[in-house]
Order: sequence, then structure tokens, then C-alpha cells
Amino acid sequence: MSEKISVGVLTVSDRCSTGEATDESGANLQSLISSGELFPGTVDQYLCVADDCSLIIKTLISWCEVHKLQLILTTGGTGFSPRDITPEAVKKVIGREAPGLSVCMLTESLKITPLAMLSRPVCGYRGRTLIVTLPGSKKASEECVRFIAPAIPHAVDLLM
Ligand code: MTE
Repeated sequence: MSEKISVGVLTVSDRCSTGEATDESGANLQSLISSGELFPGTVDQYLCVADDCSLIIKTLISWCEVHKLQLILTTGGTGFSPRDITPEAVKKVIGREAPGLSVCMLTESLKITPLAMLSRPVCGYRGRTLIVTLPGSKKASEECVRFIAPAIPHAVDLLM
């Protein structure tokens, strides 16, 4: 079993990146991880970026290759609006998909709200980093990370 999992939280939101809105989702994910209630983890990187494909890709690659994080949680930009491009950016970064995590988030979320079908999660690995795309709201991102949390320590161990 791992010690503390090194985690990056990347908020993808035009409005939060300009200061027009507060990044409640990113802040909440950071405190959930730091509290240790999901799994033993430490937040080593946090950033809020606009819905900009090249910026998302650049950040993810740096967190994987330079900072060598074990887990990256993105929040936001998974929906249907034209600016929602997080899944497309993550697809360009990962080598292998981990569809079980996406299926888990969708099936469990659908028990809470039919609007869960409006999220397009993509999860997968780049090298030894697992990347998970969570929806953007504080409520939705917390629900989704809670659903997959039981499998995260084992998933990360398998990549070592
Ligand atoms: N998943 C869960 N568990 N709970 C939610 O409230 N909201 C949905 C969906 N997934 C929701 C959820 C809604 S309303 C949208 S629009 C999509 O996530 C996409 O959100 P995003 O574009 O902010 O990523």
C-alpha cells in the first residue's frame, strides 16, 4: 500500500480563472484530500485555468512529467457547452484509458440525478499518473470523487 498519495487538483473554469467566480469545487476537493477521509493523500499541486485546451494539456503534462504526481483530479469542463473541452484535453494526454472509473462515476451519479448523463468523464494513465475528470460543481465533484475513492489507493499501487 502507498503512503500518502500525491495529488494535483486542477480546476478548469473560465469564470474562476478570471476571478469572476470563486473556485468552491477546487477548494473543497483540496480539503477533502487533506482531511484524509477519502484516502491517505496530500495536495501537492493546485491550479485554476481557463477552458483552454492547450493550457490544460500543458499543466497536465508538467504535473505528470516534472512533478510526478500519482493522481490528478480535474474539475469542470466535462459538460456539453462548446467551451467544455476537459475530456478532449485529457484524451490527448493519457496513454491508456481507465473506463471503469468513468462508468462508476456515471452509474452512481445517475442514482442521484438524471443530469449526470450530461457529464463526459475521461479517466486514464499517463505513465505513472492517474488522471480523473470530475464535473464542475462542488456537489457533483465531491459526489464523484467519493464514488471512486475506495479504488484509488489500489489503482495507484498498481502503477508503481
Ligand atoms: N454528477 C453528480 N454526481 N452530481 C451532479 O449534481 N451534475 C451534472 C453532471 N454530473 C451532477 C453530475 C450536470 S448538471 C452537468 S451539466 C455535468 O455534470 C457537467 O458538469 P461540468 O460541465 O461542470 O463538468
